Amino acid sequence: MKRGKAAPVPRTRAEFHRAEHNAVVVDGEVYFAVERDDAVHVLSSRCPHRGGPLHLGDVEGGKLRCPWHGSMFPMARLCDQSHPAIRVGDTVAVYLPTGKSEPVPVKTIVRAGVAPA
Ligand code: FES
Repeated sequence: MKRGKAAPVPRTRAEFHRAEHNAVVVDGEVYFAVERDDAVHVLSSRCPHRGGPLHLGDVEGGKLRCPWHGSMFPMARLCDQSHPAIRVGDTVAVYLPTGKSEPVPVKTIVRAGVAPA
């Protein structure tokens, strides 16, 4: 069997305006932005335990606590799995995977807890 290159995953551009938002909903999936080591990281909000909303968690001692069952996740590990993002002034831009070639709805949201990027 011959192996070829994997097809690129369709992505959608999303923006965060740092003073106002730190989370975005793309096609029903929530992502949130955090700042760590002078870089912005955009993370999936889906908790690996049972899908809890990590964007509503609290950061304690370098770990993010999931609000549903209290699991703690090291921010360093979460940031290693982040989506590439760039920051220009107060705007953070990221291309998030959708798996769809057609446009998908994008909506920014504000949340409390995790510090805005
Ligand atoms: S869903 Fe996050 S700890 Fe259970």
